[in-house]
Amino acid sequence: MLAGKRILLIIGGGIAAFKSLDLIRRLRERGASVVPVLTRAAEEFVTPLSVSALAAEKVYRDLFDLTDEAEMGHIELSRDADLVVVAPATADLMAKMAGGHANDLASTVLMATDKRVLIAPAMNVRMWEHPATQRNLKTLESDGALVVGPNEGDMACGEFGPGRMAEPLEIVAAVEAALLNGPLHGKKILVTSGPTHEPIDPVRYIANRSSGAQGTAIARALSTLGAEVIFVTGPASVTPPDGVAVIHVETAQQMLGAVNAHLPADAAIFAAAVADWRMAEDAPEKIKKDGSGEAPILKFTENPDILAHVAHLKKGRPNLVVGFAAETENVVDHATTKRDRKGCDWIIANDVSLETGIMGGDENDVVLITGAGAEDWPRMSKDQVAVRLAGRIAEALGK
Ligand code: C5P
Repeated sequence: MLAGKRILLIIGGGIAAFKSLDLIRRLRERGASVVPVLTRAAEEFVTPLSVSALAAEKVYRDLFDLTDEAEMGHIELSRDADLVVVAPATADLMAKMAGGHANDLASTVLMATDKRVLIAPAMNVRMWEHPATQRNLKTLESDGALVVGPNEGDMACGEFGPGRMAEPLEIVAAVEAALLNGPLHGKKILVTSGPTHEPIDPVRYIANRSSGAQGTAIARALSTLGAEVIFVTGPASVTPPDGVAVIHVETAQQMLGAVNAHLPADAAIFAAAVADWRMAEDAPEKIKKDGSGEAPILKFTENPDILAHVAHLKKGRPNLVVGFAAETENVVDHATTKRDRKGCDWIIANDVSLETGIMGGDENDVVLITGAGAEDWPRMSKDQVAVRLAGRIAEALGK
């Protein structure tokens, strides 16, 4: 079953496009939602109306359609899916993908996506066998694209040979294999994310500026690789990903409770910006101004360190415990010390000095610190950091 999965389906311009109508039906029967993108050439073979009616979704057609950009930009469109499927993948679309072109909506979405891409090639047999197409196929495979088909048989153009698009049910099976049998299939992973809010009294609280963007991206990337994700989030400003179990908490103590309640897990990733302190005593009533002109003095007590607690568990410790270290100076030194002190396996360290623009931004510049040393990753989007980290987690848990 594909319940809750979102497929972005790019329909290229080939005679096989008519089979994509059936593909939409088959995917939806299994509980997936399908967001269709039509290339201009595809519109010569299927109508936007029939595609939209079958998908029960708006059809995205043109990069410069301003309404679409206002509703959902092409970047968002490319990220808002669990898997991108290109069917039919024409020779031209494959060439564009291999060459990194971005000159229409379909190719731009394919360049911007951080999700896996499954292509179902369909073209004339000579075009399929052409060295250029075979070269492009190799490039796409080494870029990580999944490929289903083409099949051999009689073709609409009257020739015989490989080039027929895989049948809709074969494409569905490839989609299921990609989404359900990912490398993290069968693994349970806990992710904390977002800030915590620590109440001062019933109406006020202490908070921090964490948006939850990095933790959310990590949860999504792990789920895309097939993990069962338990996402424990404080009051974040970004929406939690689809397809993961979401547990909303407010305070550090509640976060610790939720984490404990969902152990054991194969791995735990602590991306939350947990408040270090909470009020020493509960204030059941709103603290009032007393007219003396004196401000109240708030007394704090330290919050539990959830990461350190889980990393030091004697029984039921996840095999892989990953923490974050946001630093403003001597990033690697401080983070390496933090890794030892907290007892976690990996630390993802970043420099959050104001001039880096990382705090609250879309990009991150991280160093992965493991038992083997420090690995400096190039600056990339938070989504890309998440995808790369998920890949590393899959490798580590697979050993
Ligand atoms: O000590 P510091 O806050 O810099 O540590 C950051 C790491 O520890 C993050 O992975 C964060 O999620 C985790 N942490 C925690 N509980 C706390 C404080 C930090 O899990 N109370």
